[in-house]
Amino acid sequence: MKRVESITALRDAVSGWRRAGERIAFAPTMGNLHAGHLSLVERARALADRIVVSIFVNPLQFDCADDLARYPRTLERDEAKLRAAAADLLFLPNEQQMYPFGREGQTRVRVPELTDILCGASRPGHFDGVATVVCKLFNLVQPDVALFGEKDYQQLAIIRRMVTDLNLPVEIVGVPTVREANGLAMSSRNGYLSDKERARAAVIHGALRQCGEALHAGDRDYSVLVGRITRRIVDAGLKPDYIEIRHPDLRPARPDDDRWVILIAAWLGKARLIDNMQVGD
Ligand code: PAF
Repeated sequence: MKRVESITALRDAVSGWRRAGERIAFAPTMGNLHAGHLSLVERARALADRIVVSIFVNPLQFDCADDLARYPRTLERDEAKLRAAAADLLFLPNEQQMYPFGREGQTRVRVPELTDILCGASRPGHFDGVATVVCKLFNLVQPDVALFGEKDYQQLAIIRRMVTDLNLPVEIVGVPTVREANGLAMSSRNGYLSDKERARAAVIHGALRQCGEALHAGDRDYSVLVGRITRRIVDAGLKPDYIEIRHPDLRPARPDDDRWVILIAAWLGKARLIDNMQVGD
């Protein structure tokens, strides 16, 4: 696996592969890699000849300086995992290269409508930071296909919309959430949980499944269903940020819908956990 830190070296490597007619897959990450990230690499292997992974802890998407400062940085371990997963290139840009005119001076990409709801409502500016860095990374890597985890459902929807709206020539592939044995969605933020908290956090997946079964069974009283999940989550000692049942395109659910996504964000100790479940065909 090549490890490159400069934009010039990245462009050299990728353009050589492209000239040779090779198809390029890209998985952007912020490091602290877990089985969920490695499933992106595995899926990429089936879709392309070359796999590029980036690690960049993007300051533009953190709404709180403390959160940015304590975000886990585990480069050596990440690199070993990517080598074992047979990624072809690890791109490690620094902030100066990504934002040469500083954070404030950076041109932003903003995806309206999808950005201010759900996670965007409690994390102002977060998705503008995500869309901006992902757009820049797409321009740098110029992949044929890019992979994102479905755990970050709203992020994936925003990236799909950005790619459509800006006519970016890249195919976006969502990869199913990888879970711990108790159902907890894999996340870099799980590292903030104690063993006891990790066990309690399984309530999120349990509540999603329960609500999914109720929707399947024909229950359409969304506010009652949300109330039921909320009680279950609160009783387990978590503090819900939002719990919502929406249409898969993220508009509010209507009574005659037959497809939904149930989305949860909840605090447990120092960790803000998110998860979701799609229901219906
Ligand atoms: O999902 C993430 O890890 C980040 O939001 C991403 C897509 C790498 C952009 O910084």
